[in-house]
Amino acid sequence: MNETELSKLYSPSDFREIGHQLVDMLADHLDQTQSQKEQAVLTYQDPEKELAYWKDDMSSDSNIMDFYKKVLDRSIHVHHPRYMGHQVAVPSVISSLSGLVTDVLSNGTGVYEMGMASNALERIVTDFVAKKIGYESDAAGFLTSGGTLANLTALLAARKAKAPGMVWEEGHKEKLAVLVSEEAHYCIDRAARILGFGADGIIKVPSNEFYKIDTSLLAAYLENAKSKGLAVIAVVGCASSTSTGSYDDLEMLATFAEDNNLWFHIDGAHGGGVIFSEKYKYLAKGIDKADSVAIDFHKMLLTPALNTALIFKNGEDSYKTFEQKAQYLWDSQHSREWYNSGKRTFECTKLMMSLKVYSIIKMYGEDIFEKNMDRLYDLGKVFAKLIKERAKFELLIDPEANIVNFRYNDVSSEVINSFNSRIREELILLGKFYIVQTMVGENRYLRTSIMNPLTEKEDFIALLDEIQRIADSFK
Ligand SMILES: Cc1ncc(COP(=O)(O)O)c(C=O)c1O
Repeated sequence: MNETELSKLYSPSDFREIGHQLVDMLADHLDQTQSQKEQAVLTYQDPEKELAYWKDDMSSDSNIMDFYKKVLDRSIHVHHPRYMGHQVAVPSVISSLSGLVTDVLSNGTGVYEMGMASNALERIVTDFVAKKIGYESDAAGFLTSGGTLANLTALLAARKAKAPGMVWEEGHKEKLAVLVSEEAHYCIDRAARILGFGADGIIKVPSNEFYKIDTSLLAAYLENAKSKGLAVIAVVGCASSTSTGSYDDLEMLATFAEDNNLWFHIDGAHGGGVIFSEKYKYLAKGIDKADSVAIDFHKMLLTPALNTALIFKNGEDSYKTFEQKAQYLWDSQHSREWYNSGKRTFECTKLMMSLKVYSIIKMYGEDIFEKNMDRLYDLGKVFAKLIKERAKFELLIDPEANIVNFRYNDVSSEVINSFNSRIREELILLGKFYIVQTMVGENRYLRTSIMNPLTEKEDFIALLDEIQRIADSFK
């Protein structure tokens, strides 16, 4: 490649020309996916065939716009009102457009000079979240790449605060452990193992009939751990759980943590957004007593993935997690500069996440998060009621959040699991709806997360009708 060829990589006129075409294409895509409900949510393809398709594309002479169109056609459409699958926000357009700005600027953000605006905006956004949690002014936090990483970072802070000795320097000599509900997301288990706690170090407390941690068992589980020589450092609360959207009793967990000198972390990746809602914040009562809280903006709060706030009640704690020297980045590892966000995060080069949150608040006002939370949680209840009205369908529990589990039950208990799996497979192949499934104990349930505020009651009715039609066709 010569110099002229390289300069093409940065051509403003290419950017303008392709950018305009691309924005038009994406706007048409949004229009169609939102308004033409009969269009597929997902046109499913077998993985090997999909790979072969793209290998062919690689050697074809199709142009870049063809390529983008194919990517759109061959991807799942979260903006479709009949997308009710995994917990991914339907990103607001302003947040997606902010993504264009962040990708052009590509400011690293970990170091102040590499992200002046984004670090300042991150401070504003995280202070805003801290206030909504109900924390005092000495709370502080940052944005990081996903709930998984936020939960791991919080447990690192917990280890720093509660494990005996200088773990960061010397490793830990004790067998450390955390207590968590058996319903917790698998990333908590993974985090404990990454931290070197091993299988014994993740103590899963059974849940009650509402899939919330059974707080009456906590003391016994703690005593049992101690008797085995484990040093329990933290208890993790779910707000909410992934499978059923149930909120643990955070007040009880806070008291338990305080009485036993444990770090209290809340995994609010999915449902922590209720802090914005007058109507639903009761679900997370006690959240302000946690030492740390993780909340994903890219689940319930309208941004593209990934975008997670990790907030500490005592802002000082957020600086203690990583105490490495990085002389080429900053002068001292001990100073507490909020504006060098890499001091407190796993990431070194970090995405400019704050723009994607800030732009939403700037454009629509801060109560837009409340409106979205209320709409989605209300829709969960609408759907649950419709399920209950049908004799051949069974609702797992009345949902607290926007996660609704149910199954088709007009079949024998021997085949009910496989029957429901087949229903989902057929739904995926037909592509008109997208839902997922989960195991609750030994039972398989169809699982929906209602993520799209533009989903309507008629979409739920159409889904249940479709399932009934599929079930009939299997008999
Ligand atoms: C409760 C909960 N915690 C953590 C995670 C993981 O978050 P992320 O996908 O942002 O890493 C999820 C994802 O579904 C979740 O539901």
